Amino acid sequence: NFTPNAFVEEMVAELKEKLGNDKVVLGLSGGVDSTVAAVLLNQAIGKNLYCIFVNNGLLRKNEFQNVLDQYKGMGLNVKGVDAGNRFLGELAGISDPETKRKTIGRVFIEVFDDESHLIEDVKWLAQGTIYPDVIESVSVKGPSATIKSHHNVGGLPDYMKLKIVEPLRMLFKDEVRRVGATLGIDPELLGRHPFPGPGLSIRILGDITPEKVQILQDVDSVFIEGLKSWGLYDKVWQAGAILLPVNSVGVMGDERTYEKVVALRAVESTDGMTADWVHLPYDFLMKVSNDIINKVKGVNRVVYDISSKPPATIEWE
Ligand code: XMP
Repeated sequence: NFTPNAFVEEMVAELKEKLGNDKVVLGLSGGVDSTVAAVLLNQAIGKNLYCIFVNNGLLRKNEFQNVLDQYKGMGLNVKGVDAGNRFLGELAGISDPETKRKTIGRVFIEVFDDESHLIEDVKWLAQGTIYPDVIESVSVKGPSATIKSHHNVGGLPDYMKLKIVEPLRMLFKDEVRRVGATLGIDPELLGRHPFPGPGLSIRILGDITPEKVQILQDVDSVFIEGLKSWGLYDKVWQAGAILLPVNSVGVMGDERTYEKVVALRAVESTDGMTADWVHLPYDFLMKVSNDIINKVKGVNRVVYDISSKPPATIEWE
């Protein structure tokens, strides 16, 4: 029987004991796990925790600045590193999903490593790894491993030579949320949908350009804000938009247009291993589709993904 208060008390004591006066570096992602890990560590060691929040240029619209401000408001010792151009430069011309993931993983480690070297005498790397990540990274070592390479776990290059501390390693997602609530973290932050590490790159099918990222950020923002204002956001486990590598014909006045198609996806799930598409109300879909087509230049068609996992994974790549 899990009690968040007891967990916090014991873990903070354990971290104090283990880390003493050592410096610790942690990568914040804007997600629930890394945030809860950071707040716990902050309670234990305060300013000896150095958080780094990297903008890979593939986050949701305005997310980098908003989340960075939020972290600062929480009293975390955090540095925002805007590496969007570097990531997008390295990704130029790459269409293969696994190559995208590997490229992003590599560049992230490079950026993170550079930043960690700026912290004098840092001894530990903290990670927001939770129990299902531990299980999954074990199971992906098998022959079916190549389905998707999740780079959240075990991504430490040996030249970093840091000891690893993972305070959430034994917890499930709902327990992490309860710990977060006990720590006083904003419920809106704790209720955020999961978002993949490679970000929008795996929702832009085919190659990635800054223009495509911007189109998808705008589409995604209309969709997510719509879900929130209709009271649907918390009823959905994960939602997002996908930019398809096809154009379709439309009409505008007397003109025929040939523009982008986007797919919307919203799923119910408990752990992401299986998922059902959500029966979003037709009125909502109608409104959101109109808003997207009216507001986002370059998009003339919206489709809704009605596939469940298995076999259709949540992400399209
Ligand atoms: P799939 O698409 O495999 O996704 O059904 C299951 C869950 O995992 C997320 N996902 C990822 N998360 N790096 C991540 O950090 C990845 O490469 C990655 N691929 C998928 C996906 O968003 C969903 O929550």
